[in-house]
Amino acid sequence: MKLWQGRFDAPTAKDADEFNDSLPFDKKLWREDITASVAHAKMLGKCGMISESECDEICGGLEAIYADIESGTLEIKDAEDIHSFMENELVARIGESGKKLHTARSRNDQVATDFRLYVRSSADRAIRSLCALTESLAEKAESGLKYVMPGYTHLRKAQPMCAGHFFNAYAEMFLRDADRFFASRKRMNVMPLGSGALAGTSYPIDRNMTAALLDFDKPCENSLDGVSDRDFVAEYLFDAAVTMSHLSRLCEDLILYSAEEFGYFEIPDAYSTGSSIMPQKKNPDIPELMRGKTGRMYGHLMAILTTLKGIPLAYNKDLQEDKEGFFDAEKQLTACLGIMAELIDNLILKGNRMKKAAESDFSCATDVADYLAKKGVPFRTAHSVTGRIVRWCIAEGRTLQNMTIEEYLSFDEHFDVDICETVRAKNCAEARTSYGGASPKSVKENIRSIKKRLMKYITD
Ligand code: ARG
Repeated sequence: MKLWQGRFDAPTAKDADEFNDSLPFDKKLWREDITASVAHAKMLGKCGMISESECDEICGGLEAIYADIESGTLEIKDAEDIHSFMENELVARIGESGKKLHTARSRNDQVATDFRLYVRSSADRAIRSLCALTESLAEKAESGLKYVMPGYTHLRKAQPMCAGHFFNAYAEMFLRDADRFFASRKRMNVMPLGSGALAGTSYPIDRNMTAALLDFDKPCENSLDGVSDRDFVAEYLFDAAVTMSHLSRLCEDLILYSAEEFGYFEIPDAYSTGSSIMPQKKNPDIPELMRGKTGRMYGHLMAILTTLKGIPLAYNKDLQEDKEGFFDAEKQLTACLGIMAELIDNLILKGNRMKKAAESDFSCATDVADYLAKKGVPFRTAHSVTGRIVRWCIAEGRTLQNMTIEEYLSFDEHFDVDICETVRAKNCAEARTSYGGASPKSVKENIRSIKKRLMKYITD
């Protein structure tokens, strides 16, 4: 039965019904709908709008419905939306008192509240998954402390770095994402319930009581805004989109660095796939698919922003479009974060390949220039001398590591025997001890700091 049938002579058309109904997707909100209704009923009882026994009947009825849905005895079906389903079911079970639950409430403030509760828990889940992934990356950074690998700019070898530095860079990104979800969670923790259809209510309700029962920081301060605000959905989707951009970059690096041409990492078999025709292939389908999903996640953000644009105050049915994209985004995000943590845990580091690559292609050239500059040669001059050395090496088929001291001295008198040690990739990485730099010492400090910052979420 429709909650609003009284006003109508004729039933809605079948296709209009199907188009309008949100039950197929908003049934996911059943727990939140019951939780919010129990809080509302308790408040109605406390403030004298329903009797104590009516309040008990309503809460008892709702709890029984909760148990039956949970156990699978009650199927959610045959209603316009989850709110109508719950009310119909409650009235069918407890009769007249069930019809009082909707006193001083509208589906507009009800759905805004239910969905906020849902998105709030989703944000909590996202924070937990982000922390787990950050922890996996910091652990991998720890295993990478003993290796040196080339760092890149423009995808050309640039300078050697401790391999742990690479993993910490992503740990920083995901920790920032957790912070972002945390800040959004704080902002969304304001309760719309009690805004009524749009203008509040003439009943003597206690909104602080319902807010406290539902763990909201406070009730919203404007009912028009309360029923129509969906910033919390947009914010979650933005936070998820940024997280996906980080995941996608990580996927790209993993795909690249596990390719034979690089060979720094090996993606575990459990997260690789094969080819139906080429027996030798081990394909990085999982990170590729994750990178691909980023497009649809950005799409969900674009969709909600576009839906929200130009809606007149207050509630309009356009707002029902806030859910499906969100539910998909949440599902994808949870899967991506969980899989990536496992993949990182089991990623194999190939120390020898990294070291070889770090010493080829003149990655240590900056260190030659710095060597001269530290001996008093102006950096620009040192840069140009080193440039000439590199040019000579290319022409002669030599490397910075196999040049003799005499050869170095033929370019500049400031060179000394220790230059031959300075240009070892390991030494170049170890020298970058500046705060936030790529030396194992700085990387160790970075790991310690990441773990410390993670504690905020573990203890909170
Ligand atoms: N299914 C609706 C939604 O998700 C619930 C609110 C309906 N309110 C209304 N006045 N039609 O937005």
